[in-house]
Amino acid sequence: MNPETKQKINAKYERELQRGEFFWPDSIFKDVIVSLGIFLVLLLLATFVGVHDAPKADPSDTSYIPRPEWYFLFLFKFLALYGQIPVLGKIEWVATVVIPGLAIALLTLLPFIDKTPHRYYARRALPLAIMAILVLGIVLLTFLADVPTVAADGSSLLGTLQTLAGLVIPSLAYLAFIMFAYRARENAVRLISWTSLLAGVLMIGCTVATLALHQPAAAEAAEVPASLVDRIVAGQDLYSIHCVECHGEDGAVTTIEGVKGLEGKEIPPINGKDILYTLNDASLSEVIAYGRPDAGMNPFGKAYNPEGLTRSEIDYIVTFMRYSWDDRFEKPQIKPLFPPLAEGEVPSYAVHIQPIVKRYCISCHRPGKDSYNYFMDTYENILKSGDDSDSNVIAGDENSFLLQVIQGTPIPDTVNPGKDLIGVMPPKGHLKPDAIEAFRRWILMGMPETAEDAAGLTWPTPAATPKP
Ligand code: HEC
Ligand code: HEC
Repeated sequence: MNPETKQKINAKYERELQRGEFFWPDSIFKDVIVSLGIFLVLLLLATFVGVHDAPKADPSDTSYIPRPEWYFLFLFKFLALYGQIPVLGKIEWVATVVIPGLAIALLTLLPFIDKTPHRYYARRALPLAIMAILVLGIVLLTFLADVPTVAADGSSLLGTLQTLAGLVIPSLAYLAFIMFAYRARENAVRLISWTSLLAGVLMIGCTVATLALHQPAAAEAAEVPASLVDRIVAGQDLYSIHCVECHGEDGAVTTIEGVKGLEGKEIPPINGKDILYTLNDASLSEVIAYGRPDAGMNPFGKAYNPEGLTRSEIDYIVTFMRYSWDDRFEKPQIKPLFPPLAEGEVPSYAVHIQPIVKRYCISCHRPGKDSYNYFMDTYENILKSGDDSDSNVIAGDENSFLLQVIQGTPIPDTVNPGKDLIGVMPPKGHLKPDAIEAFRRWILMGMPETAEDAAGLTWPTPAATPKP
């Protein structure tokens, strides 16, 4: 920079300095501009990014575990770690009131305790160190908030590391600061700086180790169907699992068959105006949640049945019922249950069979239901479980029990002639031809599990192709 410009800049600086700046209106004006900017950013974020989808709040869901907002997570974690301390950990108000109170008081009083007029950091080592460890602790505790204090396998390593990072090291550092500040006047600054550095590194180390050790449980949270179509499909799957055995696939059943204790019971069809026009969504949800216990329909709501459905799951069923059976609602275009099979295509479990099973079989074929212990909840179980597990699914065999019963041929009972060992499946209604075809191709081609497994195969097998 040549001396001339330098002089100019200096002169300008001097002028500005002389002129000064007023708090009102100058500073306030700047503040207003910045807050307006932040407000606009918030508006844009809300419009274009939005809050990530979570299921509707469910006041009847007793299994819900509330969590604080992210900016309070550190206190939440602090309380959890504090609770691990023997004896003292039981006195909760120390952690919820006394310690945060002291911290706030300390921050408020800090300017009065530390009255040095100096700005140079070395002269203010004590307050800076206290602040640094405090802020670092808050940040690290926030990161740790998602990690359970006791690991799933019961080992205490995770808990120990977290207690070190969040409680022990900061407390020791504070003790050391105070000691140095009062005892070691001479080289207090150096001691305090090194202690805070060491404490910071140890705290970060423990946190990183914790996060590395912690394997989050596979996200089991049900994905949240957002669009109307997704809600209808989710509702249909839930309806198939929980309601079909009594009300039938289309809700038209008037006489219950094949359900223990309710055999022959007359019920109103639930797909007609009588039900759908007289019950609004809220009362329909109520019916499902409370059930009709005296008539034989158990409650499905979580509040009355621990294994029951959440409020949003019940809402999906109601949505499904409305859009399928209520003629005042127009059902949107819905993807078929599975992608239609092309000529020569071999279906796989993942893409074709699983959705069919989920819709038509799982309601009975799962643990806790009466179905000859044939559980169809996983690929392995479909192949291996069941009282007649050897005959249900046999690769390449048209006589597999499963193929016979879904095609309307019951399996005769050899011990009690004249009776069926296994009736047709599903017992009410029947699979659509495309689903039956998918099952046939799948079993005859050896039950490929994934789309990749199926991709290498073609239907029909070369051997089965009729000779010209
Ligand atoms: C174990 C058999 C059973 C199951 C499973 C079952 N219901 Fe019912 N449901 C009944 C019976 C029995 C009635 C008849 C009650 C009556 O006569 O008042 C009924 C009645 C109803 C009604 C009409 C209520 C009214 O006010 O008349 C609706 C709606 C209904 N069920 C929906 C469902 C839905 C949705 C599911 C699945 C979540 C379901 N049900 C599962 C047995 C069952
Ligand atoms: C309404 C309940 C219900 C539904 C839905 C249902 N099943 Fe069944 N399933 C049974 C019962 C009960 C048995 C025991 C035999 C019997 O009573 O016929 C059974 C038995 C079977 C068996 C013989 C199991 C063994 O080890 O002996 C096969 C195979 C089978 N079902 C296939 C299917 C398939 C495939 C579907 C779906 C397309 C299906 N089932 C849907 C109730 C059901």
